Amino acid sequence: MTNIKLGFLASHRGSNMQSIIDACNKGELDAIPGVVISNNGDSGALDRAASEQIPAYHLSSKTYPEPDELDYAIRDTLLKHEVDIVILAGFMKKIGQHTIDAFAGRILNIHPALLPKHGGKGMFGAKVHKAVLDSGDKETGVTIHVVTDNYDQGPILAQLAIPVLEGDTVDTLSNRVLTVEHQIYVDTIKRIIAGDIQL
Ligand code: GRF
Repeated sequence: MTNIKLGFLASHRGSNMQSIIDACNKGELDAIPGVVISNNGDSGALDRAASEQIPAYHLSSKTYPEPDELDYAIRDTLLKHEVDIVILAGFMKKIGQHTIDAFAGRILNIHPALLPKHGGKGMFGAKVHKAVLDSGDKETGVTIHVVTDNYDQGPILAQLAIPVLEGDTVDTLSNRVLTVEHQIYVDTIKRIIAGDIQL
């Protein structure tokens, strides 16, 4: 695969999206950031898209109150921009069935823990890291997986373990994990492009 087009869905800060865009800009990734979609009109992700001059759309229940219409709008926006792989980067909404069907096996997500541990509906952001700390686990990590109908349950493409250190807080742990997230997402896309991982 060469010159593949990436479509991003992000709800907030968009730092994972940015690390992938940076890798594309540096030529580290043979891919083109094709479009950014956010369900949050005030997201950092939309600001980043604007500064990178990537087409960007706010698509949410505010712009499409009917869930099916929103799903079609997301799917059609990705299709219009000829996206090959959809990258969820901190996207807080469940992907609709029409979008999953159109991009079956080509939607990736990043989760800040070692799935299947500490995943599922409602497990996102600080909640994940708090659950890890509360569990007493000695390690956490990052998982990249294919998105299916069920939250956080699609085939795992890559995982990296990270130690939980004595005295870690949600903040220290999430910062350590985030640094690894930025590397592993780029690496995984690189391996897909190289054909080492088949979608
Ligand atoms: C990351 O921790 C990611 O694992 C999770 O949401 C967070 C998004 O961070 N799915 P950012 O918006 O990419 O900075």
